[in-house]
Amino acid sequence: MKNILPYIEANKDRFLQELFDLLRIPSISANPVNKEDMVKAATFIKNKLLDAGAGRAEVCTTKGHPVVFAEKIIDPSLPTLLVYGHYDVQPPEPLELWTTPPFEPQIRDGKIFARGADDDKGQMFMHVKAFEFMMADGLLPCNVKFMLEGEEEMGSPSLGDFCKENKEMLKCDIILVSDTGMIAPDIPSVTVGLRGLSFVEVEVTGPNRDLHSGHYGGAVANPANVLAKMIASLTDENNHVTVPGFYDDVVEISKEERNEMAKAPFNIEDYKKELDIADVLGETGYSTPERASIRPTLDVNGIWGGYIGEGAKTVLPSKASAKISMRLVPNQKSEKIAALFGKHFLSIAPKSVKVKVTYLHGGESFVAPTDTIGYKAASMAYEASFGKKPIPIRGGGSIPIIALFEEVLGVKSIMMGFGLESDAIHSPNENYPLFNFFKGIETIPWFYKYFAELTKR
Ligand code: BES
Ligand code: MN
Ligand code: MN
Repeated sequence: MKNILPYIEANKDRFLQELFDLLRIPSISANPVNKEDMVKAATFIKNKLLDAGAGRAEVCTTKGHPVVFAEKIIDPSLPTLLVYGHYDVQPPEPLELWTTPPFEPQIRDGKIFARGADDDKGQMFMHVKAFEFMMADGLLPCNVKFMLEGEEEMGSPSLGDFCKENKEMLKCDIILVSDTGMIAPDIPSVTVGLRGLSFVEVEVTGPNRDLHSGHYGGAVANPANVLAKMIASLTDENNHVTVPGFYDDVVEISKEERNEMAKAPFNIEDYKKELDIADVLGETGYSTPERASIRPTLDVNGIWGGYIGEGAKTVLPSKASAKISMRLVPNQKSEKIAALFGKHFLSIAPKSVKVKVTYLHGGESFVAPTDTIGYKAASMAYEASFGKKPIPIRGGGSIPIIALFEEVLGVKSIMMGFGLESDAIHSPNENYPLFNFFKGIETIPWFYKYFAELTKR
């Protein structure tokens, strides 16, 4: 493999300008107002893939936001790698907490600040540029396909069908994904596990209108008070989830695996300092990294109801609501957990209120073995660019489509993430260090090379 560094050096300003153009498009999948921006972002990427040398590139329509598909088939008898990524981003709110506006990318302290800088425009774009390099130098060692979606942040509602309808077009030997993290800039990692997700919304309704809190307070159920109590009861004093059956399908991971995990560098003091918290809080009996990766959880993601404007308005709200995510581990099933939750939540409601539970979306967890060609190729790729082997880690987040790929296409994914914990994905001031962006571009072609070599043998 030819050294990519001179190519990166000669083109780095253009790479960044192009990424910035993409980051300026507010492709917020959850917001219908941005529907046209989704098409704009997809078209932009399609054109970049064509410029890079794709033989075919299309913006494919789906029931929801479009999927970008592209490919370069150099020889059908060679292995085929499929790159998955997403061009949609999370809503940027609260805007006032951003130092510079979320869709006006800026470099500060060696980092790119913008919504999507890491998750996942920055990481996805590394693949486009690595592909461009291999094409420019005639080094592409295998066939490559790209499938880049615009609905990941809303649970990939259309991608399952897209895969089922296009099995032949998506046929490949491995799926390569950069949408996770690494331990530290000098400690590369392969993500070998993801948590599943069950996301629900609950609504508690009391009286048929907001009521004067002096006339009625204390006499009628206040949905906000009731909701707070119900939510508080969902975890116990050990921070175990109290939903009956919640843990039934959880497979306890072995002592050996836990010991192995504990070897990954982690400093609790740095962790607390980074988040400005005096202490951590989580399930009794598990370490912080374990709580955030191998254990199932339940968390309120948003809660509202009543008057939240300026000053005081003395009312009992008629309704109160919350959005709740449950992160799941291998063997737990998203829909089953949602059903258990719904049944339990209704059962704990006092008669004085009505309760509605809506399942919003979900996905299954994923675990990847490390004794595969894909893992080996990734390991060799990191060794070539970082000078050291990666550490396998389990991510706490979810990418629902990864489990579906396995189910529908029968293909495993290999997750080479280059994001850092400090990138603040989903938060204000999301950022992506230039080092990680360029290191990613440097590492990817090595993966192609080793995967092609190991597969041919
Ligand atoms: N890229 C993240 C998932 C991730 C990040 C996994 C870091 C592991 C390490 C992805 O974009 C994401 O945010 N997924 C959502 C899933 C959802 C909205 C269905 C999540 O985890 O909340
Ligand atoms: Mn992502
Ligand atoms: Mn995300």
